[in-house]
Amino acid sequence: MKIKKAIIPAAGLGTRVLPASKSVPKEMLPLVDKPAIQYIVEEAVNAGIEEILVITNRNKTVMEDHFDRSPELEQKLAEAGKLDKLQIVLDVANMANITYMRQKETKGLGHAVLIAKAFVGNEPFAVLYGDDVIIGEKPAIGQLCDAYDKFGLGVAGIKQVPEGDIYKYSSFAVEPLQDRTFKITNMIEKPQTPQEVLSLYSILGRCVLPPEIFDILEETPIGAGGELQLTDAMRTLTQRRGMVGVDYEGKRYDMGSKLGIMKAAVETALIHEEIGADFRAYLKCLAQTL
Ligand code: UTP
Repeated sequence: MKIKKAIIPAAGLGTRVLPASKSVPKEMLPLVDKPAIQYIVEEAVNAGIEEILVITNRNKTVMEDHFDRSPELEQKLAEAGKLDKLQIVLDVANMANITYMRQKETKGLGHAVLIAKAFVGNEPFAVLYGDDVIIGEKPAIGQLCDAYDKFGLGVAGIKQVPEGDIYKYSSFAVEPLQDRTFKITNMIEKPQTPQEVLSLYSILGRCVLPPEIFDILEETPIGAGGELQLTDAMRTLTQRRGMVGVDYEGKRYDMGSKLGIMKAAVETALIHEEIGADFRAYLKCLAQTL
């Protein structure tokens, strides 16, 4: 079944990137000339997603403005004959069919997904975490949608994380199926001890879920950090129906962390059409002084 709908949860508080995130949502931090969330919307559109719901909160209306028309700016650009710039502005506004819903209280990623229940209805859907930018040739979420098609089971985008970092993430027990695809047998959110670590595979930024996840979320107790955890609901889904993991092709950047933001900024600048070559030359010079 073709996946047509996607949710982008982007209502987190972004406490790891304060003070910037006090007034600028981390999803709006620029990577050269595009805010992070635009990369994510482009990924969804390139994977054939037709409708996107962004979960926001009261401090994040700037995201809505970004994907809206801007008549005054458009008029000025048209009058000045800056038609290439006008096209850039129009392309963003016409990029996708995006709607927004507010999460009134920051009760966790599971809660953010749950409030999308009416939007999703009774069909499988994609989730693209608003602070995870993935750069690659094939859209990462498209690779997960293909796996959903093939196996008819919920799919988590998984990657191995460094040993010392697994305690900040979720940890998955997996068995290889084929190529980059795994059968998921168990999972835990933020393991506390080495005994609780199931493997270094963690869900990173993307999943495709069947609609029954909503019923499961409704009966899932509050988990790690006092939040309703999507991982806890996915564990129940794994036990009831099974799930697969796809170690997707593409590099993932964590826009919720300071180091992740800087890595994403440097690497997107290096491949940028307009400034890539100049930035590479600059960086090489700078590196010699380090
Ligand atoms: P994170 O836990 O990485 O985001 O959630 P956070 O809460 O903003 O992080 P801190 O404060 O720096 O620790 C993963 C994704 O889920 C969204 C976030 O916006 C992020 O994209 N999220 C999280 C919500 O939409 N609502 C929530 O209640 C929590």
